[in-house]
Amino acid sequence: MTPDEFVVTPYEVRGRIDYIRLREMFGTQALTNELLARLHSLTGGELSPLLTRGVYFSHRDLGWVLDQFAKNSPFFLYSGRGPSGPLHTSHLVPFELCQWLQQRLGVRMFIQITDDEKFWARPGLSREQTAYWGLENLYDLLALGFDPKRTHVFFDSRSISALYPLAVRVARKVPYSTVKAVFGFKPSTNIGLVFYTALQTVPCFWPSWAEGRSVPCLIPCGIDQDPHFRVTRDLAESLGYPKPALLHSQMIPGLLGDAAMSTTGDREENALFLNDSPKTVEKKVRQAFTGGRTTVEEQRRLGATPEICSVWALWRTRFAKSETEFQEVTRDCRSGALLCGDCKSKVLERVHAFYREHAAAREKVKDWAESTIITAAPKPL
Ligand code: TRP
Repeated sequence: MTPDEFVVTPYEVRGRIDYIRLREMFGTQALTNELLARLHSLTGGELSPLLTRGVYFSHRDLGWVLDQFAKNSPFFLYSGRGPSGPLHTSHLVPFELCQWLQQRLGVRMFIQITDDEKFWARPGLSREQTAYWGLENLYDLLALGFDPKRTHVFFDSRSISALYPLAVRVARKVPYSTVKAVFGFKPSTNIGLVFYTALQTVPCFWPSWAEGRSVPCLIPCGIDQDPHFRVTRDLAESLGYPKPALLHSQMIPGLLGDAAMSTTGDREENALFLNDSPKTVEKKVRQAFTGGRTTVEEQRRLGATPEICSVWALWRTRFAKSETEFQEVTRDCRSGALLCGDCKSKVLERVHAFYREHAAAREKVKDWAESTIITAAPKPL
């Protein structure tokens, strides 16, 4: 692989990603200022930092769901999580945007927990483990502040009777050659994964099916999940459902400088897990890859490079409290006024505070988490 090559699929992210090229390769649209302005006015004059700082950079049919919303046909939000272990901070990115949108627009949220998918995708995991992490992850996600009255969960192994009637229809529309090409499956890939994409499609159509009318769907997710929804969009109309719209985020760089904060392949130090102790968090941030220079003198003189820095990515995605602070950190990093050690100390304070608040919020959702899980189909077939 040469330095400008990269791979992005739901099952593999590798190399230095050129996001403009990726958008072209995937055939998605740029998230324009005009669309952001429309969202800004719909939410009463606010924009999530994830939108203003370019973390979300691409979409499909966002304009259409906003039109529908304005015409009194509100969309529902859908995102998901494959529970292979504890969540890390970058897993929160889609859900934070969902929570932000739900709070401002009063829309419904559907979360899918794919304990089956991760069992199929990770040979080292047992069913007990993926089911266990599924519930643990769900607590973390709900703790972001979702509205209990408007939030619903498909926990695949427990919701299968609610999902299966639609999965059956979807699966008949997906030729093996499509999944082979889209996901890069090999002859040795297990047949669970071959079928799995049908299950990830189901929530897109589920409310339309349940209500017997066309309900628009908006999916905030990492761009790596787009291939699943290309399959969904291609078959939606043949089943009589609207194509889901998507809002794609960039991958969040890992602490070791990897393209994505993933810990697959024993890269424990690449991510901040939500269940890491304060000591572990401190250690990981202290040794994180930065955009700094080799010596203090050089950094004072030439400045550092925020765009390649994993600590800057922490400020950018959640830890800068205001736009002003974010701009300041970025400027002082670039100019050499802010050194990496000091920057790390500052961000660590924020990370520790967030962990404390999050742990408290997580305890409070445990009572109602189970009641969000959908277990029955709305109709017999
Ligand atoms: N496949 C996703 C993962 O591995 C989980 C998922 C299910 C998902 N449904 C989704 C992600 C919808 C984004 C949007 O984590």
